Amino acid sequence: MKHLLSLEAVSAADMRDILDSVPAFKAGRATHARPLAGQTWALIFSKSSTRTRVSFEVGLREMGADVLFLNANDIQLGRGEPIRDTARVLGRMLHGAVIRTFAQADVVEFARFSGIPTVNALTDDEHPCQILTDIHTFEEAAGERITGKVVTFVGDAACNVPASWAFAAAKLGFELRMAAPRAYWPSPGLLRRAGVASDCDWTARPGAVTERYTAGSGVIELIEDVRLAARRADLLYTDVWVSMGKEAEAAQRLRDLAGYQVNAELVAMAKPGVQVMHCLPAYRGKEIDDATMEAHADTIFTEAENRLHVQKAIVAWMVR
Ligand code: CP
Ligand code: NVA
Repeated sequence: MKHLLSLEAVSAADMRDILDSVPAFKAGRATHARPLAGQTWALIFSKSSTRTRVSFEVGLREMGADVLFLNANDIQLGRGEPIRDTARVLGRMLHGAVIRTFAQADVVEFARFSGIPTVNALTDDEHPCQILTDIHTFEEAAGERITGKVVTFVGDAACNVPASWAFAAAKLGFELRMAAPRAYWPSPGLLRRAGVASDCDWTARPGAVTERYTAGSGVIELIEDVRLAARRADLLYTDVWVSMGKEAEAAQRLRDLAGYQVNAELVAMAKPGVQVMHCLPAYRGKEIDDATMEAHADTIFTEAENRLHVQKAIVAWMVR
């Protein structure tokens, strides 16, 4: 039984296996196999979603499954029925589940008690499906692998999206620079889980504005200076400054992250032809300016479209 709960648990070979099957799903959208015929999958979401919800609903249907969308508040889960009981009930009726929620522990518990393939469609800790899509999108446009390239993440480096990037960097062997104020750097615990073997307790070095580590076959750099972080980058990447669940901190975050915007000045620091991506939704004038968003709209909306093709590759890998 395979799940996709965290990129931490996916080997480099399995990531490659998933990524390698995306072009066939993309090129053969109308004609590819329907390995889920006769199955019913559910999406159980406690947070808003446009791309993840629609790409999984459409993707699962195009692979032959019937799909239920369950807003977590509409089922008894929302009134306090334990995850493990919900999982044991749904596991007897469904063939697979795609879950978007707050606590990572909840998707882990669901997978354990349901006994059906389970996908993390975003938690507070990770967004594995998004990062697999981003890597595919980068490689599709670049015509080469991401290994050895420089990815600069700009913004809240302590949220779910950069955490999944960190696991990917360590496994696939690229350099991930995380440009953020120190208060938004990922925790030493996360860095250790990503494969940093050296002393990565940057909290013990209060004055440090840059930290650079070997992580697995990759490199992870934490850096306050966003311009230095962008230098010669192959990919500039950003995400919202206020993730779902952090709304109470919005005013503080907007102040703290104000200097961490992807804009023309940053693009000029990067490699000529740099790809600019955003997992979306985008807040123009905050993490990215309008002109940069529009100049790179083709890449960004191809990235969004690719969610569909990559979700299929993920599910096919899980049920193979
Ligand atoms: N990028 C992403 O996961 O978008 P949604 O929140 O719309 O699903
Ligand atoms: N970090 C963002 C990602 C949205 C797709 C959030 O969790 O809201």
